[in-house]
Amino acid sequence: MGLNHALVKKVFGDASAYTFEGAPIEEHPNVKMEVRDLHISYGHRLTERARGLFGKRNPDNHKGHERKGRTMAVKNVSLPIYENEVLALIGASGCGKSTLLRALNRMNDSIDGCLTSGHLLLDGEDIYARDLEPELLRRRVSMVFQKPNPLAKSIYENVAYGPRLHGLVSKKGHMDDHVEEHLSKAGLFDEVKDRLKDEGHSLSGGQQQRLCIARATSIEPEVILMDEPCASLDPISTAHIEELISEIRKDHTVALITHNLAQAARISQRVAHFHMGEMLSYGKTKEIFKDEGDEPTHETTRNYVMGTFG
Ligand SMILES: Nc1ncnc2c1ncn2[C@@H]1O[C@H](COP(=O)(O)OP(=O)(O)O)[C@@H](O)[C@H]1O
Ligand SMILES: [Mg+2]
Repeated sequence: MGLNHALVKKVFGDASAYTFEGAPIEEHPNVKMEVRDLHISYGHRLTERARGLFGKRNPDNHKGHERKGRTMAVKNVSLPIYENEVLALIGASGCGKSTLLRALNRMNDSIDGCLTSGHLLLDGEDIYARDLEPELLRRRVSMVFQKPNPLAKSIYENVAYGPRLHGLVSKKGHMDDHVEEHLSKAGLFDEVKDRLKDEGHSLSGGQQQRLCIARATSIEPEVILMDEPCASLDPISTAHIEELISEIRKDHTVALITHNLAQAARISQRVAHFHMGEMLSYGKTKEIFKDEGDEPTHETTRNYVMGTFG
């Protein structure tokens, strides 16, 4: 039986009805991060030596992925992430979005059996460079998850913990200001200012996610990665977070996964569409969604954004 296109459109929305934030602020934005020839596969447990970037000795050697029993999650993906923009990663479940996002701050390193080859650059520098420790990298490239995951600490400590750990703020008075600044930025300060000592977990889901975003910005990272940050939230909280993301991109670069195409249209400047590990389309959001770019939008992408995916 074929898809009921009218019904699918009703559920997923129609790209022609979306509102777009418009063109990127900069005509020629800086490239903040770059992904080049990225291959990621999952499989059997790896030896210590083979773990992490497969090609430590030769990042262009992708042969390891061909070993028996491995699943390719990301296949030969190359893309730039521009400074002060929101890049939306879209595509059906299982197409490799989270795997790609996790590669950007080396969170796949800790997954047994995950093999990565290719090049990942931050400000033109290899993120696997010897002098860029994963902890330092994650200070520069931080992550917000789908399910709000506040630390088992007070609201105040959730925001103060990172900056203290990284020696960003030392004096107590300064820390109070810092915490207030980031809670305010996240649109949360007024709601929590009288209960800063309460547990982070005592907040509502939407508030917890804003707390997690405050925690992410508190260490003043250059890039913030978000994996379906609104997926577990109600529409009002989602609207809050969307507004917040548009604010955040003024000081940070954002890469975000979303299944909500109207959201991608509203808040992203560029979009990358993935299908079974491959990137089929990449470009300015409006051009991809409306098929107005120099290159015609890939048919599978067009079907996906029109809500008639095949
Ligand atoms: N930790 C893991 N171990 C083994 N396979 C994984 C793991 N994480 C993801 N995969 C597989 O990699 C592919 C891509 O998954 P994922 O990156 O989570 O996709 P998405 O975020 O687009 O839904 C899927 O086939 C998934 O089953
Ligand atoms: Mg995912």
